[in-house]
Formats: sequence, structure tokens, C-alpha cells
Amino acid sequence: MSALTQLYDEIRACRDCDLAEGRIKVVPGEGSEDAELLFIGEAPGWHEDQQGRPFVGSAGQFLDRLLTSIGLKREEVYIANVIKCRPPHNREPLPSEIQACRKWLDRQIELIGPRVIVTLGRHSLSRYFPAETIGKAHGKPRQLDGVVYYPMYHPAAALHQGSLRQTIEEDMLKIPEILAQVKELPQDVVEDRQLSLF
Ligand code: URA
Repeated sequence: MSALTQLYDEIRACRDCDLAEGRIKVVPGEGSEDAELLFIGEAPGWHEDQQGRPFVGSAGQFLDRLLTSIGLKREEVYIANVIKCRPPHNREPLPSEIQACRKWLDRQIELIGPRVIVTLGRHSLSRYFPAETIGKAHGKPRQLDGVVYYPMYHPAAALHQGSLRQTIEEDMLKIPEILAQVKELPQDVVEDRQLSLF
């Protein structure tokens, strides 16, 4: 059993916030254990709660199409969320829930060691850059602690707001070039710095 699989057992047993009461299934995340590219969404929705898998509803189908557009399958990347359990009625995660769940994704990221972390939407962006807004930050890669962060709009936002669809599709198309260039970057840069890749 891999360290990541063992961690899934710990995550599934978690009762550190009230979301444990109403969940059907915990959604730890899934994908390649040595993914170079890791996506972080917001929270499981109805379908994810039923299946225990991230991004399997309509936003997930769009994410799959976005991945296909850059020649990737979901098994080749890693997909997770800021929180692991569905909030009632799909409400936004509370700061206390995000805080209680933080350790799990941190440990997953430590085990997987991605080179690029794609934040999908506001909550995921503010996990790393609390002062930033998605409208300004999307589509601009930046390096912090040796990892490149690449903020994008949440795929569900593009489904609700048609005008964002093209933006998210265009931002996705930049990822292969970012991955290629990341391999040339030194991994020991600690300060937050915007990358002039484009
Ligand atoms: N939206 C998310 O942020 N995550 C999911 O897993 C599904 C929808």
C-alpha cells in the first residue's frame, strides 16, 4: 500500500468538522501518484459525494474536455479539492472547514510533489494567495517555494457564465508550455515571483 493510499484511509475517517455529519462519501482526490500537474477545485458537489470521486459532474466533464485539449487524461494528472466533503446544498465552504481540511491536501501535495499546481476558482486561489482576485490572477503563472502556481477560473463558472468559457479554454492551452518551461527553472526559489513565461 502506498503512502498516498494510506493517507486516503485517514482522510476517509476524518471527523474534524461538521461536514462529516452530512456526507455520503469523502472525496480525497485521485490521479497519478507522481503527477507533475495537480488541479485543486473547491468542494465536492452532489455527484462527487455519491461516488467519492472529484469532478465527476458537469464541471468535471468540462474539466475532462479541457484536459483532452492539451493531450492529457485525468489519470495522468492529480485532481483534488480545497475540502474533502460536500457542504450542505452546495453552499460555499466556511473558513473553519477549509482550515480543518487544510492538512490533508498539504500532505497529498507533499507526497505527490507536483511541479505545477493549477488552482481552479477563488477558494483554491486564496489558499495560496489570499490577497489576489481571480479576475486579475488567472492565466498568469507564478513561482513560490519551488512550485509554479497557475490560477484559472473554476470550470463551473464557465458553465454558468458563457463569456468565461473561452478564457478558461485559452488559459488551459498555456499549460503545456508552462510545464515545458518549469523543467528549466531552479526549484529552490522561495519568494513569490511572477513568471514571465508569456
Ligand atoms: N466542483 C469542485 O470544485 N470540485 C468537484 O469535485 C466538483 C465540482
